[in-house]
Amino acid sequence: MLRLPCKTIPAGLGAALLWAAMAQAQSPTPAPENGAFEVEQVFAGTCGFCHSDGGRAAGKGPQLMNSPRDDAFIRDRIKHGKPGAMPAFDGAFTDAQIDQMIKYIRALKPRDG
Ligand code: HEC
Repeated sequence: MLRLPCKTIPAGLGAALLWAAMAQAQSPTPAPENGAFEVEQVFAGTCGFCHSDGGRAAGKGPQLMNSPRDDAFIRDRIKHGKPGAMPAFDGAFTDAQIDQMIKYIRALKPRDG
């Protein structure tokens, strides 16, 4: 007959720990010094947690594709975030890297299929 182990981790606690680990894995990673700045990968890893499908769809944050905001607004939002909503990335990226992110956001198109 099958015996259940007497000490099992409650499922809820396990999920909470996994969630915390995932949230930590999503914290902003500074771009490598070697000049290779893969904007799509950086976006997916750093921003994709909240801006779904590479920014094409709303998630925890709004959709960025076809944003009506101007470049200055987008730059300001990336640098300074919004308290309680979006973290500030000033210091995580150089101005040139933020330029690339703005270009990336502007170039977003719906995925084929
Ligand atoms: C923890 C979740 C989170 C992360 C991570 C995040 N954002 Fe956001 N972002 C938000 C939320 C929420 C808003 C909406 C803020 C508001 O209410 O104005 C937002 C707004 C924005 C806006 C303005 C959109 C608009 O139309 O108002 C831009 C641009 C943006 N984010 C870009 C980025 C980029 C680029 C990254 C990665 C470097 C990033 N975000 C990471 C949550 C996030």
